[in-house]
Amino acid sequence: MARRILVVTAHPDPAPERLCRVLAAAYASAAQEAGHEVRRIDVATLDFPLLRTTEQFEKGPMPGSLKEASESILWAEHLVFVFPLWLGTMPALLKAFLEQVMRPGVAFAYPEQGGSGFTRTLLGRRSARVVVTMGMPAVLYRLWFLGHGVAGMRRNILNFVGIKPVRETLFGLAGSSQKSRAGWIARMRRLGQAGR
Ligand SMILES: Cc1cc2nc3c(=O)[nH]c(=O)nc-3n(C[C@H](O)[C@H](O)[C@H](O)COP(=O)(O)O)c2cc1C
Repeated sequence: MARRILVVTAHPDPAPERLCRVLAAAYASAAQEAGHEVRRIDVATLDFPLLRTTEQFEKGPMPGSLKEASESILWAEHLVFVFPLWLGTMPALLKAFLEQVMRPGVAFAYPEQGGSGFTRTLLGRRSARVVVTMGMPAVLYRLWFLGHGVAGMRRNILNFVGIKPVRETLFGLAGSSQKSRAGWIARMRRLGQAGR
């Protein structure tokens, strides 16, 4: 079944040869060829300020440069995030982007005055895949570091706004041979074709 898929590339370095960009392109082109509708965001090309206050988060207007990205998140049925592991978690650029777009009123709603204490998710009926490249072996990240950075993104951000399931694809030893790169590209193409 054809899906509406948003591919978010979040490598702070906009150089086209970055592994993340190659993997995101492989996923997107295979998905399109398989008949899925695909939109793409490259966070490194967006110019937006850091969110600095609760007031901005709750009441401030979304920066104009992020309106299209925010609309694409609402449009999508499936979101694919591709980024490198930096200091154990997502690069600050992606966190800054998510702080801007995953706002109350857009991604979740605070409880009504006097209502129960739980927030309501506003991005339900969407799934996601988080694709992370890293210098260490992926198994080390999972077993020794318990995948904390990626689990935090899944649970504290994506699940919090209603996006589930969130699947993970980790590519470790990212600087390794062209042969492994070709295997990762093929894996991204298979995921893109399946729209997962
Ligand atoms: C600032 C910075 C922090 C990094 N932190 C980690 C880390 O915590 N763990 C790790 O395995 N690799 C780390 N790396 C390596 C990157 O994850 C790796 O270079 C990247 O995934 C390769 O993909 P790319 O070619 O798209 O940059 C770090 C790299 C940089 C530049």
